[in-house]
Amino acid sequence: MKTLNDYTVLSNGVKLPCLGYGTWQSPKEDARKGVKTAIDLGYRHIDTAFAYGNEDAVGEGIRDSGIARDELFVTTKHWITDRGYEKTIKAVETSLSLLGLDYVDLYLIHWPCVEKVTPEWKEINAATWRGFEKMYRDGKIRAIGLSNFEKKHVEALMETAEIAPMVNQIEFHPGYTQMDNVKYSKGFGMAVEAWSPLGSGAVLKDEFLGGIAAKYGKSTAQLCIRFALQNDVIPMPKSVTPERIKQNMEVFDFEITGEDMKAIAAMPELGFSGFRPEEAPADALVNGD
Ligand code: A2P
Repeated sequence: MKTLNDYTVLSNGVKLPCLGYGTWQSPKEDARKGVKTAIDLGYRHIDTAFAYGNEDAVGEGIRDSGIARDELFVTTKHWITDRGYEKTIKAVETSLSLLGLDYVDLYLIHWPCVEKVTPEWKEINAATWRGFEKMYRDGKIRAIGLSNFEKKHVEALMETAEIAPMVNQIEFHPGYTQMDNVKYSKGFGMAVEAWSPLGSGAVLKDEFLGGIAAKYGKSTAQLCIRFALQNDVIPMPKSVTPERIKQNMEVFDFEITGEDMKAIAAMPELGFSGFRPEEAPADALVNGD
């Protein structure tokens, strides 16, 4: 990863830029301005989700930037209330309409349905995926993938999938790397993306990381982003602050040594969100328990 313009080639040939701009927890107005700022600065990969409630604002930010559509890589995600074939098709149409786009570059199942929610979890994920496959074949989505899936959920999906998922987006940052899942997902042939590459800000005050970052004359945020890049994991740091949006792309002028990479990977758990797919955190949020 030498420049912001580097990319990973997905299993269907689509090019996924190696660093993205995240919008989780960005209120609409911040998302609109942040997306425009990021694109003006040179980001070409924007990540949102239906559940973030800001797809319309992200779309506005894209239009404000004036960028040509085919220069941009836009990801959004399917929400758990839209599980099933018909609902998935409608969900894609809703997200496209909110974004004001004719297609998205990548669409992800935000969370797997799991056994704790229903014994029919496999069938439900399979039906959702059939909806993904239809919209992919119809040209509404250039690449389809998963988020927060573990081996068990991927294997179950593959019992009926006609098209294999191309991406898995998981929580990944110093202090919580899920290396087993990273290895599994890559071995499967998926590109791995990091959500919360800065631990949602929770790892940025850590002294150990701060000490390593200082050696390179970089901020802890830049160290975390570079750590993902050097693990061949695609980070999408979120910031609504223009200086930070800029700082977060200035990560191609240094290289973390092998020794430091190992030390960061081995650090004790820090900044874990608490979200485990088998605990169905998203379903709990929706059902209110
Ligand atoms: P803000 O959006 O107010 O600028 P993650 O990408 O892991 O979800 O982390 C996002 C959090 O990290 C946000 O609170 C964001 O704050 C903060 N953040 C993003 N970039 C930086 C940076 N370069 N320095 C300090 N904090 C940052």
